[in-house]
Amino acid sequence: MAVEISRRTALGALVVSSLTACRNTGWSEDSSPTTARASTGFSSLNNMKGITLSTWNHGLTANRAGIGVLNGGGTALDAVESGCRAVELDCPDMTVGLASRPDRDGFVTLDAAIMTGEGRAGAVGFVRGVVHPISLARAVMERTPHVLLVGAGAEQFARESGLEVRPECQACDAIGGACLSPAAEREWRDWLLERQYRPRINIENHDTISMLALDKNGRMAAGSTTSGLAYKMHGRVGDSPIIGAGIFVDAPIGGAICTGLGETVLRTLGAHLAVEAMRHGMTPQEACEHAIARIIEKNGNPAEYQVGMLALDFHGRVGAFAVQKGFTYALGESLHDAPSELR
Ligand code: GLY
Repeated sequence: MAVEISRRTALGALVVSSLTACRNTGWSEDSSPTTARASTGFSSLNNMKGITLSTWNHGLTANRAGIGVLNGGGTALDAVESGCRAVELDCPDMTVGLASRPDRDGFVTLDAAIMTGEGRAGAVGFVRGVVHPISLARAVMERTPHVLLVGAGAEQFARESGLEVRPECQACDAIGGACLSPAAEREWRDWLLERQYRPRINIENHDTISMLALDKNGRMAAGSTTSGLAYKMHGRVGDSPIIGAGIFVDAPIGGAICTGLGETVLRTLGAHLAVEAMRHGMTPQEACEHAIARIIEKNGNPAEYQVGMLALDFHGRVGAFAVQKGFTYALGESLHDAPSELR
């Protein structure tokens, strides 16, 4: 494993040092075997009204909503918000929205972020009762001078902004579990019997809808919304609402989004790392592999966690890579298995 990581790091250095050469020679995705691996579906890019790229199987739900927006002439920002909202209402994996698995004290606490290629960003962390945290993140971006609001202050801002906040979630402060969906409450009560904190790879840390969209006018946006890890400590916030960790977009380079064990991504600012790699000449695929290699270097034994990363550049090229197998992603209306470090 160490040898493989060193090889990738060396490849990264080589690509970075040849940035000028790559650009000047019109280096295309076809010259990169790794990018070709994830470029399925892009031959028709010029005929499309835009691109949607999202994490996990529920990425299909997000993309369908986003495609509807883009086909109607909407912006990438609208597409991302719409896609994330769709999964906030319907996430069979119980990892996004109010019907999710709770923290260890029985509270569903939600994180979300949104960002545009122009560098506008908004995020919320540790909010309860908010039906659409992604719209709250957008409200922070558009209606406040801030980037990140958390906890009770963010919930107050949601109410002031006219967003739906479930009152029962505010009323059950002392009673964990009171606001859980029946399925989430059942699983949480089973978990309480042993109270072992070992999130199951690709299941309990199979979290987050993260989404990138590129519209026909060449604008890119990213969003992420999640309940975070199941049975996390009360108060824990993951990578999703941290700009540069869970999501990052920078025009005219591209964007990157992450899913998985947030702590590992926070330690490396994974999405920012991938976008900066693209800035220095890597393709989106190489950037994802470079960032995942760094995440493994910094966090140790990759058998213990999952991180999935997606990247998109302004040419419409896509990258996808994960620590472990099992990371699926949706490109438009097609579902793919991402290549991974461990097989
Ligand atoms: N990746 C989402 C989280 O760890 O909360």
